[in-house]
Formats: sequence, C-alpha cells, structure tokens
Amino acid sequence: MKKLADILKQKEFSKNELIYLLSLKGDERKQLRQRAAEVKNNIVGNKVYYRGLIEYSNKCKKDCYYCGVRASNQIPKRYDITDKEVLEAAEFAYKNRFASLVIQSGERSDKAFVDKISFLLREIQKISDQKLHITLSCGEQSLETYKAWRKAGAHRYLLRIETSNSDLYKKLHPKNQLHSFEERIQALKRLRETDYQVGSGVMIGMPFQTVDHLAEDLLFLKKIDVDMAGMGPFIEHKETPLYQYRNQLMSLQERFDLSLNMVALLRIMMPTINIAATTAMQAIDPQGREKALMVGANVIMPNLSPVKYREDYLLYEDKPCIDEEAEECLNCLAARIHMAGSTIGFDEWGDSLHYKMRQQ
Ligand code: 5AD
Ligand code: FES
Repeated sequence: MKKLADILKQKEFSKNELIYLLSLKGDERKQLRQRAAEVKNNIVGNKVYYRGLIEYSNKCKKDCYYCGVRASNQIPKRYDITDKEVLEAAEFAYKNRFASLVIQSGERSDKAFVDKISFLLREIQKISDQKLHITLSCGEQSLETYKAWRKAGAHRYLLRIETSNSDLYKKLHPKNQLHSFEERIQALKRLRETDYQVGSGVMIGMPFQTVDHLAEDLLFLKKIDVDMAGMGPFIEHKETPLYQYRNQLMSLQERFDLSLNMVALLRIMMPTINIAATTAMQAIDPQGREKALMVGANVIMPNLSPVKYREDYLLYEDKPCIDEEAEECLNCLAARIHMAGSTIGFDEWGDSLHYKMRQQ
C-alpha cells in the first residue's frame, strides 16, 4: 500500500483509493483536508462567490422518496413567488453586489411554467442591465426548453444526479418514466449541448448508500466533466417514504464529516471547478458552510426567498434561516466568511475556471 502523503500528491485516484480516502479519520483526515485547502488556494484562490437563491416554487410533479416538497406530501402550501417578489429579490442581489442568482423550483414542464421562467429571466436581465448571471435549478426539461431558457438569459444549470448508481437511484425514486435514471443522464447531456455551465452533485449518507457508491459518484462527476458541483448530507424528512429507514442511517455528524471529505476530494480531483458550500451542511453544523469553504468549496448561496414562503420549501428538516430576512443573514455571513479566511468576490460573476478553460 502506498503512503497517504504520496496518494495525496496524485490528481487522479482509483476507486479503491477513493474509498480509503473517504473513510479517513483523525489526523489522516486532517491531512486530506489540508491538501484540498492547498489545492484550492493554489488554483482558484480564497475568493467566495455569492449566488442569491430564489426558491421560486414548491409545486412539483415528481415524488422523490427523500424530498419534502414531493407531490404526495399534503402538508406544504403550494406557492409560486410573485413576479414582483422575484424581481425584488433580484434587485436585492444586484444592489448588494452579488452579481449572480439561482432560481430553484420544484419540477414542472407545463407551458405556463416554462414561459414564466423565460419571462422572469428576461425581466431580471432588463432590471440589472444584463449584469446578473443566472443559474437555473428547475429539473429535467426538453432540449427545446433548455434552449429557450438559455436564450432568455440563463447561463448556468444545476441538476444533481443525486446518486450515480442506477440501482441505488431506483431505490430512492418511484419506478416510472418520470423518475428515470437514464432520462436524468440524458438531461445532463442536453444541458451540455446547450452550452450551459453545468453543475451536478449527490446527496451523502442516504439509506442503502455505501462509501463505494460515493467513490463512484466522485468518478462520475469527473467523467461527465462538471463545471460546478453541489453536494450535501442527506437529512431525513418525516413526511417522506425514506423516513422509515432513519434508524439505519449514519449519525448526522458522520454524514457531515463524509460530506466534507467528498468536497475535499472533489477539489483535489477537479481543481478548477466551482464547488458550493451547501445549506444542508449548515443544517447539521451552524458553521458547516464555513467548514466546507476551508476544505475546497468556493460558492455560497444566501437565501433571498421571501420569508413567508420558506416553511413551505423544506426539502429536508431543520433547514436553517427559515425565519431570517435576507439582510440579517448577510451581515453575519460576511463576518463568518472572513473568519474562515476567505474574501467575497463582490460584483464578480465567478464563472467556473473550468468552464472558461473549456471554452478556449
Ligand atoms: N436531504 C438533503 N438534501 C435533499 N435534497 C432533496 N431532499 C433532500 C434531503 N432530504 C436535495 C436534492 C436536490 C436538492 C434541490 O435538494 O439533492 O437536488
Ligand atoms: Fe420534486 Fe424530486 S420531489 S424533483
């Protein structure tokens, strides 16, 4: 067996090496995380980019077994944020020099929804003088829809694969065409074809998921050559089918630690991509996002959704900041980011270096 220090000098890892690295504990784990911090600072530097998050709608046609806004959950009041509220949030992002927004939504593909997103994209571009870069996270769509949204002003798209193992994928979703693993892969291909900066990612610590699966996930993200990644711990939600397996899960702390190791390894394997410090990490540890920044992440998505909608957008339980106005959150966030040794890239789009290099 090679020495840890030697393995950590590599840029590529075998599946077995990844399994070993993901499972590190104590001092050895520290070495992995230090190596990731070093790679991050050498390649993308210590800047963090803000993406203002607008949780546009919790109406969803799908029924993923893990998700709190799945169609069968009768508890959340279903909403669409009004146009005015979306534009106010965009204005807030613009005025606070975020330079970038994410519009996330439950999955729908009816014409009214598709046209509404196009409309909002155009309006946001208008009020910001084309200065905001917009990311969409609105699920699987046709090539035509992806093209229409790209043309209307979206630059980036997030579509998590959730798990790259098709057997596990089938255990986490209903068995029907609406939840097809193959279709999700095709959607990722369509996004690439449409010239988006493409982001993907997985949940960590789900029922039936092993470290083997997670090692495969890292290799998958590398293989499809993502420009951006968002990964976070799975957090069980009472009103979902997977809740019945809560006693078989790793502890929250273990899921959190494994998530940090995933971020660290992806940074070493793909030094030029953007990696988000996700809200789910903060749900487990109040300083979760800052910890993720310290091991490789370089993007944070402050929530700009109007507070009155937030309790109806609980993808998982204990979601943080559901009763805080955007501005209050921002002050504490900036201080925490500085304490984590990072600076904030105000007024910068913060496109992934990986994407820029791919364009050349
Ligand atoms: N725990 C953690 N993350 C979740 N997501 C959905 N449900 C959960 C959960 N229970 C994540 C999925 C989805 C993203 C918007 O939120 O990865 O892609
Ligand atoms: Fe809405 Fe999965 S439940 S996309």
